[in-house]
Amino acid sequence: MLRGINMGDNKYIDKDLKSQIDFARLPKHIAIIMDGNGRWAKKRFLPRNLGHQEGMKRVIEIVETASQLGIEYLTLYAFSTENWKRPKDEIDGLMNILVLFIRRELERLYKNNVRLHILGDISKLPSMPRNEVIKAIDRTKSNSGMILNIALNYGGRDEIIFGIKEILKDIDMGKIDIGDLNPELFSNYLYTKGQPDPDLLIRPSGELRISNFLLYQIAYSEFWFSDILWPDFTRDDLYMAIIDYQKRNRRFGGI
Ligand code: IPE
Ligand code: IPE
Ligand code: MG
Repeated sequence: MLRGINMGDNKYIDKDLKSQIDFARLPKHIAIIMDGNGRWAKKRFLPRNLGHQEGMKRVIEIVETASQLGIEYLTLYAFSTENWKRPKDEIDGLMNILVLFIRRELERLYKNNVRLHILGDISKLPSMPRNEVIKAIDRTKSNSGMILNIALNYGGRDEIIFGIKEILKDIDMGKIDIGDLNPELFSNYLYTKGQPDPDLLIRPSGELRISNFLLYQIAYSEFWFSDILWPDFTRDDLYMAIIDYQKRNRRFGGI
């Protein structure tokens, strides 16, 4: 199996990966497209929703690992604006898994000092998952550790349009002047308001695309792709992505 196709070599697999991380140069913000649940299930002749259930189990492990490493922001893509195209059964299953995840893991998130934040329009979710999400945001709102962004009914294009509408309201009310609009100011009208852009974007499952994720924020993110399916993604994969990230030379257009 190909793990981390951007790594160049696999020589550090089987070694203590964590000890190879330079803690002085951690990415501040990591974003992950949690993809491959369906294919994980298909390989085992199981229904897709069992793949989603298995994927849910990886979420808490990766959240705890990131938080213990000292990552300040972790963003997980859970449900896109395009995922409504899926069969109703699968959508219902995903919503139930979200409810189950919060009921099962909220206290653990709380004890890990994680603060939950949502990217996306949750007003469109059915009432039960929506209420659980609101409860979880409220429960963790005074925590001071890692910010966990869950992208839920999230689309990058949708977010940009949302931001434009909010800006137009503020221009209308005279709060800002159109001449003041610049990339930094615009960032403050996105769901990630006040947060740094992702340094590292991870996509497992073998797909080499963005699928409408964080379009504005990933202008200078480093990408790490892997063939691993999300239900097989372990903390070692996260360590490998970070080690690989730390070998890169980020120039931001400079030299
Ligand atoms: C990701 O797994 C989970 C969601 C999009 C909700 P998929 O369900 O997309 O899995 P594949 O890509 O079909 O394997
Ligand atoms: C992206 O995965 C969305 C999430 C992981 C939530 P998809 O499976 O929906 O993306 P495509 O359809 O392969 O581009
Ligand atoms: Mg997919």
